[in-house]
Amino acid sequence: MAKKNTIYVCQECGGNASKWQGKCPHCEAWNTLVEEKLPAGGTKALLAGLGPAKPQAISDIAGELVLRIPSTIKELDSVLGGGLVPGSVVLIGGEPGTGKSTLLLQAGALYAKTQRVLYVSGEESPSQIALRANRLGISEKELYVVSETSLENVKTTIENLKPQLLILDSVQTIYSQELESQPGSVAQLRECSHEIITLAKALSMATFLVGHVTKEGAIAGPKILEHMVDVVLYFEGTSIHTFRLLRSIKNRFGSTNELGVFEMTGKGMKEVNNPSELFLSERATSIPGSTIVASLEGSRPILVEVQALVSSSTLAMPRRTAIGIDHNRLALLTAILEKRCGYRLGDQDVYVNIAGGLRLTEPAVDLGLISAIISSFSGKAVPKEVIFFGEVGLGGEVRAVPRAEDRLKEARRVGFSKAFLPKRGIQELQMEGISLVPIEQIGQLTDYF
Ligand code: TYD
Ligand code: MG
Repeated sequence: MAKKNTIYVCQECGGNASKWQGKCPHCEAWNTLVEEKLPAGGTKALLAGLGPAKPQAISDIAGELVLRIPSTIKELDSVLGGGLVPGSVVLIGGEPGTGKSTLLLQAGALYAKTQRVLYVSGEESPSQIALRANRLGISEKELYVVSETSLENVKTTIENLKPQLLILDSVQTIYSQELESQPGSVAQLRECSHEIITLAKALSMATFLVGHVTKEGAIAGPKILEHMVDVVLYFEGTSIHTFRLLRSIKNRFGSTNELGVFEMTGKGMKEVNNPSELFLSERATSIPGSTIVASLEGSRPILVEVQALVSSSTLAMPRRTAIGIDHNRLALLTAILEKRCGYRLGDQDVYVNIAGGLRLTEPAVDLGLISAIISSFSGKAVPKEVIFFGEVGLGGEVRAVPRAEDRLKEARRVGFSKAFLPKRGIQELQMEGISLVPIEQIGQLTDYF
């Protein structure tokens, strides 16, 4: 009988077994054994002939990496840290239908003006891709398309065509014939990604890997892809709203604070260079319970509408419902309002919503959120030229937040003329065209609305 050249490795403890079992014999975790290929001749063969690499002075190497290829889609380039680095591997994750294939086809066409680009699709036939390309108005000569799911065939195609950019859509559909496990399994993912990454480095070929996201929100094949690649980007967005956020989770060549904003239109993904206008476009002014907060998304200030609705409750336990912010944060802020300002919210339902489907996690939205609740409770609308930012502590004190000046600049640019903000650090702000209202204690807010 031929010797078996695969082994089953536990993804929890790293222990192995010669055949598949439901429970790991070492750590007793369930369902963690995954088939993996053994290197021919074992680890010894792998290491044989590899001498120690010679250390180089850092000053001699530095500078090699500055080369970047921009796609001319500004929102994508900034998330990548200025452009694509040759030989780098970028993983783009997102739920089905968020527009990964669309954006990459568009970017591929733009890269194809200066590079040879290969788009490998494991999900769509070439005619389906062409149909999409027609709709996007794409007809580049140097953009090659192939529909393929076998890793071995993909490698041959790459070696023949020698593209400078590879787009692999999606990594879960590619499989290696040498492994018995199903396409999309951890072993296949690890093997295929590893092969593609090795090829990308050897040929200095920049690569986009598309990864599907499971219901739990992780790229299927838990974390194993994330530490293998250079850059991890996540596409966020809901099917209800047309805008999409591209976030950088990891970037070996740039900052992870960047955020790209796109809108899905009939003609593909359109970049949104001024997202504040997008999020405020449907704002109903003069309705109590609506405030605008200057929030930082990564390093980018974005103005977002916070809506609150306070209405008398018939329930023994009044509702506290939060959409787009943390539920505990809402409970905390209503408790602070009761204790420090004397509001009686014990018999009121409080609903809070972030308009546009955005999720805000920054404590800097506290002041705006509390103001929205006060405004809804008192029935007095917040003047439409006002924005808010500041963190609220348990004592009702308003605390300073980072990058106040950037938030104010964005507010001024969009046309706001008044800002409620923490008192601390206000003397150092040199802002013209926007009047500043320092707030030390949330009790002061009741003087205004
Ligand atoms: P797609 O790029 O296929 O998503 P993913 O690869 O992330 O699964 O985008 C699919 C959705 O986008 C689909 O529901 C149709 C819509 N769409 C548009 O609204 N406009 C367009 O120009 C295109 C090509 C798709
Ligand atoms: Mg797709």
